[in-house]
Amino acid sequence: MERNLAMEVVRVTEAAALSAARLMGRGDNVAADQAAVNAMRKALNFVQFKGRVVIGEGERDEAPMLYIGEEVGASESPRVDIAVDPLEGTTIVATGGYNALAVIAIAEEGGFLHAPDTYMQKIAVGPRARGSIDISASPTENLRSIAKALKVYVEDLCVVILDRPRHQELIRECRESGARIKLIGDGDVAGAIATAKEESGVNVLMGTGGAPEGVLAAAALKCLGGDFQGVLKFRNKEEAERAKAMGIDDPNRVYGMEDLARSEVMFAATGVTFGDFLNGVRFFSGGAQTHSVVMRSKSRTIRYIDTTHYFEFKPKYD
Ligand code: FBP
Repeated sequence: MERNLAMEVVRVTEAAALSAARLMGRGDNVAADQAAVNAMRKALNFVQFKGRVVIGEGERDEAPMLYIGEEVGASESPRVDIAVDPLEGTTIVATGGYNALAVIAIAEEGGFLHAPDTYMQKIAVGPRARGSIDISASPTENLRSIAKALKVYVEDLCVVILDRPRHQELIRECRESGARIKLIGDGDVAGAIATAKEESGVNVLMGTGGAPEGVLAAAALKCLGGDFQGVLKFRNKEEAERAKAMGIDDPNRVYGMEDLARSEVMFAATGVTFGDFLNGVRFFSGGAQTHSVVMRSKSRTIRYIDTTHYFEFKPKYD
């Protein structure tokens, strides 16, 4: 995959973040998401590639834009598969909370698992705990193994978990093991990435969230040298059937990071609201400041990009 694409794709997440951030705190998840989708799609059509959306806003019949299978881009080559979440954390933006991101990941053709829009049980860790996780084992066993890899006590660990009723038992077991917990309202892509950032103070993400978000988190952790495992969790019969139609034969399969993000990948995110590793969009008279990260698995390069946008001189994506 071309190195220069990295700089092009960051424009795409910047465009989505700038549009969604306009709607911060306005209590309207749908409008914030729509703004991000519109802007991301327009910006994608300026990028010099032919991208096929494999993780997007949903099936063609339910999502008019960035649907699975949609082709975007301004050129016929290189041909790539793309996974997008124009606004990861719609409720976060609606309430002006922390850690909302605009996200994209790019792989070679066939490089991503075509994850159905269902749930996924996940476990994610940073580079120093790579190889120490096993989603088939209990949370307690995982915490012991991660603590050993990090050369700390289980009591020193901090587990990020989405604050949901379905996680009652997981939270109880983590507490009983002695580990500390950070409950988050939304945004488990940011939660997974945080495990790879020493300064975040979190060591592992556990629990069930969106499956598409799982693929994006796996792509990011592949660039960061971390580790990720996931198992699909269907909410109903329709989801199970849809997954089967998408080629998921074994519903209990454990997907490792390399199954979810098979080829070399590129990952870019821009902060929409302020968060653990990216600042949110800050508007000023005539422009705005954005903060993004762009990473490549091949070179393991991680670039943070602070961009000043002057609206008078910029193409309009919204
Ligand atoms: P949205 O941006 O679609 O609102 O997703 C936010 C999120 O918190 C994800 O990070 C997470 O994977 C998923 O929702 C969890 O789903 P649910 O809210 O149904 O528990």
